[in-house]
Amino acid sequence: MFHSCSERKIRILSLYLILSLSSSILVLASRVRHLCRPDQKDALWEFKREFYVHSNGIAADKKTEMWKNKTDCCSWDGVSCNPKTGQVVELLLRDSSLNGPLRSNSSLFRLQHLRSLDLSANNISGILPDSIGNLKYLRVLSLGDCNFFGNITSSLGNLSYLTNLDLSTNGFTGELPDSMGNLNQLSELHLKSNKLSGNFPSMLLNLSELTLIDFGFNQFEGMLPSNMSRFSNLVSFLMVGNSFSGSIPSSLFMLPSLGVLTLGRNEFSGPLDFGNITTQSSLGILSLLENNFNGPIPRSISKLVGLFYLDLSLWNTGRGVVDFSIFLHLKSLYFLDLSYLNTRSMVDISIFSPLMSLGYLDLSGINLKISSTLHFPPPLEILVLSSCNIAEFPKFLRKKAILYYLDISANQIKGQVPEWLWRLPELQYVNISQNSFHGFEGSVDVIQRSGKLILLDISSNNFQDPFPLLPNSTKFFLGSDNRYSGEIPRTICKLVSLDTLVLSNNNFNGSIPRCFENLNTTLSVLHLRDNSLSGTFPKESISDNLRSLDVGGNWLSGKLPESLINCTRLEFLNVEDNRINGTFPLWLRLLPNLQILVLRSNEFHGPIFSPTESLNFPKLRIFDISENRFTGVLPIDYFTGWSAMSSFVDVVEHIPDRYAGRDSGNYHNSVTMTAKGLKMELVGSGYTIYKTIDVSGNRFEGEIPESIALLKELIVLNMSNNVFKGRIPSSLSNLTNLQSLDLSRNRLSGEIPSELGKLTFLAWMNFSYNKLEGPIPQGTQFQSQDTSSFAENPGLCGVPLQETCGGKEEATNQEEDEDEEKEDKDQVFSWIAAVIGYVPGLVCGFTIAHILTSYKRDWFLKLFRSFC
Ligand SMILES: *[C@@H]1O[C@H](CO)[C@@H](O)[C@H](O)[C@H]1NC(C)=O
Ligand SMILES: *[C@@H]1O[C@H](CO)[C@@H](O)[C@H](O)[C@H]1NC(C)=O
Ligand SMILES: *[C@@H]1O[C@H](CO)[C@@H](O)[C@H](O)[C@H]1NC(C)=O
Ligand SMILES: *[C@@H]1O[C@H](CO)[C@@H](O)[C@H](O)[C@H]1NC(C)=O
Ligand SMILES: *[C@@H]1O[C@H](CO)[C@@H](O)[C@H](O)[C@H]1NC(C)=O
Ligand SMILES: *[C@@H]1O[C@H](CO)[C@@H](O)[C@H](O)[C@H]1NC(C)=O
Ligand SMILES: *[C@@H]1O[C@H](CO)[C@@H](O)[C@H](O)[C@H]1NC(C)=O
Ligand SMILES: *[C@@H]1O[C@H](CO)[C@@H](O)[C@H](O)[C@H]1NC(C)=O
Ligand SMILES: *[C@@H]1O[C@H](CO)[C@@H](O)[C@H](O)[C@H]1NC(C)=O
Ligand SMILES: *[C@@H]1O[C@H](CO)[C@@H](O)[C@H](O)[C@H]1NC(C)=O
Ligand SMILES: *[C@@H]1O[C@H](CO)[C@@H](O)[C@H](O)[C@H]1NC(C)=O
Repeated sequence: MFHSCSERKIRILSLYLILSLSSSILVLASRVRHLCRPDQKDALWEFKREFYVHSNGIAADKKTEMWKNKTDCCSWDGVSCNPKTGQVVELLLRDSSLNGPLRSNSSLFRLQHLRSLDLSANNISGILPDSIGNLKYLRVLSLGDCNFFGNITSSLGNLSYLTNLDLSTNGFTGELPDSMGNLNQLSELHLKSNKLSGNFPSMLLNLSELTLIDFGFNQFEGMLPSNMSRFSNLVSFLMVGNSFSGSIPSSLFMLPSLGVLTLGRNEFSGPLDFGNITTQSSLGILSLLENNFNGPIPRSISKLVGLFYLDLSLWNTGRGVVDFSIFLHLKSLYFLDLSYLNTRSMVDISIFSPLMSLGYLDLSGINLKISSTLHFPPPLEILVLSSCNIAEFPKFLRKKAILYYLDISANQIKGQVPEWLWRLPELQYVNISQNSFHGFEGSVDVIQRSGKLILLDISSNNFQDPFPLLPNSTKFFLGSDNRYSGEIPRTICKLVSLDTLVLSNNNFNGSIPRCFENLNTTLSVLHLRDNSLSGTFPKESISDNLRSLDVGGNWLSGKLPESLINCTRLEFLNVEDNRINGTFPLWLRLLPNLQILVLRSNEFHGPIFSPTESLNFPKLRIFDISENRFTGVLPIDYFTGWSAMSSFVDVVEHIPDRYAGRDSGNYHNSVTMTAKGLKMELVGSGYTIYKTIDVSGNRFEGEIPESIALLKELIVLNMSNNVFKGRIPSSLSNLTNLQSLDLSRNRLSGEIPSELGKLTFLAWMNFSYNKLEGPIPQGTQFQSQDTSSFAENPGLCGVPLQETCGGKEEATNQEEDEDEEKEDKDQVFSWIAAVIGYVPGLVCGFTIAHILTSYKRDWFLKLFRSFC
């Protein structure tokens, strides 16, 4: 797809060919006379034995396993020697299933003459030892994807012949060592996907041989140096996914060699100045998506005539006018993403007709005019026109013989989906969700003509029976929020590749088909919520492959099928609002990946623990068993072993590759939860941040188990409407992330522990209908509550209640002074509270970075990012 990329690949490929050729020549040579030097052989043999070889079931060539003690070590897999001296000069053990740390005394460091070392894609966890600096003749060092962590050792600066350094996809932290400024032969520096931080290292400016710098997906920040002209050989400058800010130095655009510039997902702002670029600019790829650019797109962009890939999505033109003709000079464009420019311009799509190479076009969020007689020659493969105010099915697509991805979701298209669409020979991904379609033109099997269809998203339309027959190739079918009725069509069971089936929010009735067992090996997402399905849950219908199961809001009865125990990948289980009965499914503890468990509003009963076996939910984030008939006293240690809620597990923010994402049917789970007295829906990765326990509306007795204080990451805790008694444990103050606490309608007594006044994020609380007494804790979060939060307790006193506690007036005055100081901060918190209560979408355009100053800022930013 990308010329320079594939060119590079070819270059690398030919390099490998040369290398492997030369090693086979060496092998030939070695047959003649034993090359291997004993000291080198010993070192290799010991090195081999430092690692445990294990591939985790994945196919990998275990090179070191093939080494034979009695043969010439220069002929061993992955080893090459200098034919004259017998010294090992190359050790290439990529993806060889090596497990174990690389110790500083490793015999590897006795291979002093290595010029090329590749240990990438092995599981060499631990720190990278300083001794690596001893291998002073290294030209190529590849340690990508090895699980290294810690700082990058400064001894790398001693490898003065180094031309290629690859440390990408590890856990390296901290700043780059200054000593790297000595690597003056360095040509490629790959550091992508680590946790490196600090400013752009200025010592790199001394390395004029650099052709590639890849810092993608790290935590670098600050401005780029303004004078980049010393990178006179730079071809690829890849900084996507960091926190760089300020303006992009125009000197970068003036580097004559620069071909690839990816600065997307940073915090760069304008003005964007392309400098005095001449027509020779060789820039082919420019990606600036998701930065903080404001105002008009500079016209001078039309000078970058070599561009074939341009991504400006989410550039904020401030509802301004965009002159789309500035892109017409870019005759080589293959990829153009202008989505969500926040413009009020209406554009006639025919303006892009002259771009004769255009294969990928994304104009989402722009008001489009598409004439029904439009002739549009560009050879489109991918077309994304989501939220473009389109009212008619774009007829010009009829001639798009190589179109394989079509997204015209979130428009106002009515009527039937045209029959010809399914004749497009390459069509694989179709998203026509959020329109007003009511049917498919042609016979019921019309879609089956589309022999390559993989994904079909028709959700949120007015589709009615008959339910279409789908082609065997279908992997993802999303049909929620339509008007299909009757039984779930059994024809679905014939789709032997089906991975995702979403039929929520229709009028299906009858039972869950037993024939789903035919999909036993493929189905991973099954969502049938909010229909009128009844009967018991057939245990045959559960695929062992399930990751996500949602059958909430039906009339299902009987027990939860125990065959779920075989779904070891299950992450999401929601059966709320049914009539499922039986005791608590203790066997769920055997599902190691369970993150979300919602049993709300069913007829479950009995205790939720077993005296013999402890519940360990290592990954559970949302536990909602409210509105059932559970009973019993919760053991004091009930919540031990709920690791995901008790320690900060960094949510691995999977940053979806925008194109890979196209292949994977990025369907999101959603979950409704009650927090702060409001119902809200969390969609997508939003819920992964939320850690919630809701056991309300049951008949739990006894005291609140102390172990709840272990769940330090908890954000919402609802234990209301039970018969808990005794005191509120003061250790609840350990839940420093808590934002919503509901203990109302129990039989709790004693005072509200004053320590709870320290919970600065606790924006909403309810203690009403208990037997609490004594003063309400001091702390602004408490004083700002509505009085109803404390109502119907016999002996509570103090602000915000009318009842004073007697003799504490002075203290209150002092508090007021303090209050004023804290006011700013509190405004922020209540603002956050308000926002969290609303539809998250509303805030996505907001820059909250400037408002939040507390140490929690990053945390909130994360929260908001994950919503948006
Ligand atoms: C392999 O050879 C090394 C010396 O090169 C020797 O120390 C070792 O014992 C040998 N191992 C086996 C299993 O023969
Ligand atoms: C290397 O050091 C480790 C401890 O750090 C030790 O256990 C091991 O025996 C040493 N190996 C050699 C070959 O000296
Ligand atoms: C790097 O070289 C410097 C100077 O030659 C030396 O002092 C230092 O010990 C070396 N570091 C390593 C790890 O080899
Ligand atoms: C660049 O190299 C020069 C000498 O070659 C040195 O004086 C300067 O400090 C280096 N700059 C950086 C940022 O390392
Ligand atoms: C940028 O650096 C180069 C080489 O170091 C120097 O020749 C040039 O004058 C500098 N340009 C500016 C604008 O500072
Ligand atoms: C660009 O060129 C103009 C005149 O051609 C000159 O005045 C200006 O300084 C140049 N800008 C840069 C950044 O080199
Ligand atoms: C789809 O697969 C079924 C069997 O699984 C087969 O009977 C049918 O002919 C296939 N349909 C097409 C169009 O290939
Ligand atoms: C549970 O469901 C079964 C099957 O629907 C029913 O026979 C039984 O009476 C139910 N039990 C309770 C306690 O509701
Ligand atoms: C889990 O799978 C095994 C093997 O397929 C099967 O024998 C067992 O009955 C299943 N367990 C349940 C509870 O369905
Ligand atoms: C289809 O488009 C809608 C609206 O743009 C989007 O929310 C949904 O995720 C898309 N479906 C798939 C499967 O990507
Ligand atoms: C609460 O935190 C304090 C101080 O960090 C600690 O001593 C105590 O053990 C914690 N309590 C519980 C129940 O975790």
